[in-house]
Amino acid sequence: MTYESTPWRRTARSANLLGPTGDPGVTIFEEITGLANKHHAINLGQGFPDTEGPQEIRELAVKAIHDGANQYAPGSGIPALRQAISEHQNRYYGLKIDPDTQVVVSTGATEAIAATILAFVEAGDEVVTFEPYYDSYAAMIGLANAAHKVVKLRAPSFAPDLDELRAAVTDKTRLIIVNNPHNPTGTVFDENVLNEIIALAHKHDCIILADEVYEHLTFDSPHIPIATLAGGFERTVTISSAGKSFSFTGWKVGWASGPRELITAVRTVKQFLSYSSGPAFQPAVAEALALPDSFFTNFSADLGERGAQLADGLEKAGIPVMRPKGTYFLVADLKGQGVESAVDAAKLMPERIGVAAIPLSVFAHQENQSEYASLLRFAFCKKPEVIARAVELLQNLPGELAK
Ligand SMILES: Cc1ncc(COP(=O)(O)O)c(C=O)c1O
Repeated sequence: MTYESTPWRRTARSANLLGPTGDPGVTIFEEITGLANKHHAINLGQGFPDTEGPQEIRELAVKAIHDGANQYAPGSGIPALRQAISEHQNRYYGLKIDPDTQVVVSTGATEAIAATILAFVEAGDEVVTFEPYYDSYAAMIGLANAAHKVVKLRAPSFAPDLDELRAAVTDKTRLIIVNNPHNPTGTVFDENVLNEIIALAHKHDCIILADEVYEHLTFDSPHIPIATLAGGFERTVTISSAGKSFSFTGWKVGWASGPRELITAVRTVKQFLSYSSGPAFQPAVAEALALPDSFFTNFSADLGERGAQLADGLEKAGIPVMRPKGTYFLVADLKGQGVESAVDAAKLMPERIGVAAIPLSVFAHQENQSEYASLLRFAFCKKPEVIARAVELLQNLPGELAK
């Protein structure tokens, strides 16, 4: 059997797991991070915070290990965490979630996404996402042997065209994935977009996967979960994660909530992915979810300032920015610098500028990548002094790009 013909390779290709060169070993994320490390550049490519989550929450995880939380957690998650998730959904959104039947704890949001797609999508079904999209959707849709249809979000507003949305969702659609606030664009969908998605889900009898991992990272207005809008809850699996809200990306504690029938299906698949994980992190995350409102508002206000700091700096260098309404990412446009390929720019930036960023086109289907060709995604979940230094270095970007 040759490498080309191995089933593994075919699955990898259909699941969009191969890098741009077809080399399964190297994705653009790894390539850019490798270049950032090699040239000691500030890495604004990967989205991870450079500050730790709250000290008192970390201590709870350490204590849990000492107290013996070291064997398998229950498959659905420990009761205290499921209760805390239920209380959080009620406190922020007025949603009444039964902690025993309407919540499942997962190994990060990633596992909840995988389990939801595998639970509801059969080979040949269609799944609709917005594009650019978070990469794990494409991979999981591919692994489920389903077709991945996209609705483009075009700069500068990144708001979907509702006619294009209506055209994308058909009777073949099984799942509509809505990531709101949206990575990589930093956009937040208007209520009328969310209502249209709900109407389409009812019309075409499909399920909504609401990836709301950035629910607490909005800057101008509070987050509106799609499950809170009329007709939304009954069709939606809502997914979130302690990684984003509390800066514990490595803990990989996520969860899904929604109607009992949908969560039962997700839990059934999830049992055979990891069964369970993070027994010492789960009690700590339960306490984190009960932190006072001031924790959440200070966190998003601080992050919003970092975003503005980076946006101001890029604009000062003459580079237009699509100011984010949420997440910890912003998109900058290099078109005015004569850049036709942000991929090439991203590859030279770590060495020539000392700052790394990710080209937006890698979050798109190959045939649509030209649509995003001049756009770069920067992560701003970094300390103010790190952003300040990056801004200083980025002043050289137009000059370097002109060479
Ligand atoms: C939109 C989106 N969904 C899910 C995840 C994954 O979350 P977790 O680390 O909890 O698996 C990320 C992480 O970057 C993300 O940006």
